[in-house]
Amino acid sequence: MVSLSAVRTHNSSLKYFSPGLVAVFVGGTSGIGFATAREFVRSTNSPHVYLVGRNPTEASRIIDELQQINPSSKLDFIKSDVSLLRNVDEVCKEIKEKENKINLLFMTVGYLTFQGRNETTEGLDRKLSLHYYARMRFAQQLAPLLTTAAKDPDPKANLSRVVTVLDPNISRNFTPNFEDLDLKTTFSLKNCGTHASAMNNFAIEHFAKAYPDSSFCHAYPSGVNTGIMREQGPVMSAIWNVVGKTVFKPFMVDLTESGERHVYASTAPQFAPKANAGGVQDAAKGSDEVTGSGAYQLSWNGEVFGPSKKLETMRSNGAEDKIWGHTEQVFKKICEEGGKV
Ligand SMILES: NC(=O)c1ccc[n+]([C@@H]2O[C@H](COP(=O)([O-])OP(=O)(O)OC[C@H]3O[C@@H](n4cnc5c(N)ncnc54)[C@H](OP(=O)(O)O)[C@@H]3O)[C@@H](O)[C@H]2O)c1
Ligand SMILES: *[C@@H]1O[C@H](CO)[C@@H](O)[C@H](O)[C@H]1NC(C)=O
Ligand SMILES: *[C@@H]1O[C@H](CO)[C@@H](O)[C@H](O)[C@H]1NC(C)=O
Ligand SMILES: *[C@@H]1O[C@H](CO)[C@@H](O)[C@H](O)[C@H]1NC(C)=O
Repeated sequence: MVSLSAVRTHNSSLKYFSPGLVAVFVGGTSGIGFATAREFVRSTNSPHVYLVGRNPTEASRIIDELQQINPSSKLDFIKSDVSLLRNVDEVCKEIKEKENKINLLFMTVGYLTFQGRNETTEGLDRKLSLHYYARMRFAQQLAPLLTTAAKDPDPKANLSRVVTVLDPNISRNFTPNFEDLDLKTTFSLKNCGTHASAMNNFAIEHFAKAYPDSSFCHAYPSGVNTGIMREQGPVMSAIWNVVGKTVFKPFMVDLTESGERHVYASTAPQFAPKANAGGVQDAAKGSDEVTGSGAYQLSWNGEVFGPSKKLETMRSNGAEDKIWGHTEQVFKKICEEGGKV
């Protein structure tokens, strides 16, 4: 476990980076995304931060707060419902018009639901889209800008990382249905959790090979008291607020600490890109158990998850190609052909 004081020492060294790091927080208007953006802004020189979400009231409140914390920061809100992949493309287009490099893509979009499959107009389940497809579309569309950041001739500006916050552990216990990856016919909330977990795990292994100058982390936040129950209505949210802050408190990570720990996950050198892990002291073990392979499954406390028989079996049965092949098909149908799956 990386102690909180070690996390703080690391984060307080981030002023080492040259001014002008660019970070995109997809789901930056609440919870872990917001808390991480706040610590990032506090810890860096003149960062340029984009917050992507739907709620302009929260966004403007947050932007005021972050501006006060670090007056040298530049903050932008992009309002979009990114459960639609065509909206993801619009957001990426807007960012690409303004930036030629991105140092950090940090993704937390999603929500908790007890309801069943809910199809978007593009034919994907809304929750699986937010937890997987939309995130990987962001990663794919912005990967060239992440590579540009990695190749910055200024060695104090070459951070280049993608972090997707969900849960790498579910798919160490359950295997997805490779015949129905988008859960058209076998949807259940349990399957949705398993699929999102496995698909994030293997997609980042694909990205680490395709974009070796950037590193890719799938991080488990543990229980964090956030707005995650919002979509369950005011009653459930209120109950969660009380129960979360009392009964579960001893088992939960404080929101500010979660932000600090996710800034660590977003910047610590041991989660190195595949291309330069050789030069990094103490490079972490990648999800394929190879040191410095560029894709990392992180627990809330900064440790990588150890080996997994289940994931190893899936890997040797071609999980990465199956999952990425399926994902490209979905992107093609929706984003290139303008259709639905
Ligand atoms: N909190 C926990 O205990 C916990 C535990 C395990 C895993 N996780 C996972 O960690 C991730 C982050 O959780 P959190 O607790 O930080 O959640 P949260 O407080 O509910 O934040 C979710 C963020 O996603 C955005 N969002 C949701 N739907 C969107 C949409 N259709 N389009 C654009 N933005 C959208 C929200 O912004 P707007 O409201 O502005 O749209 C918000 O900024 C989630 O995937 C969650 O499943 C959380
Ligand atoms: C399905 O998603 C839409 C938004 O796309 C939302 O308005 C609706 O309440 C959701 N339905 C259920 C049953 O969750
Ligand atoms: C950044 O530049 C330094 C110094 O040239 C190099 O050692 C390091 O590997 C580079 N980091 C990345 C992420 O490319
Ligand atoms: C991962 O899942 C296993 C099996 O359910 C469990 O024993 C372990 O504690 C989990 N690890 C974490 C860090 O949650």
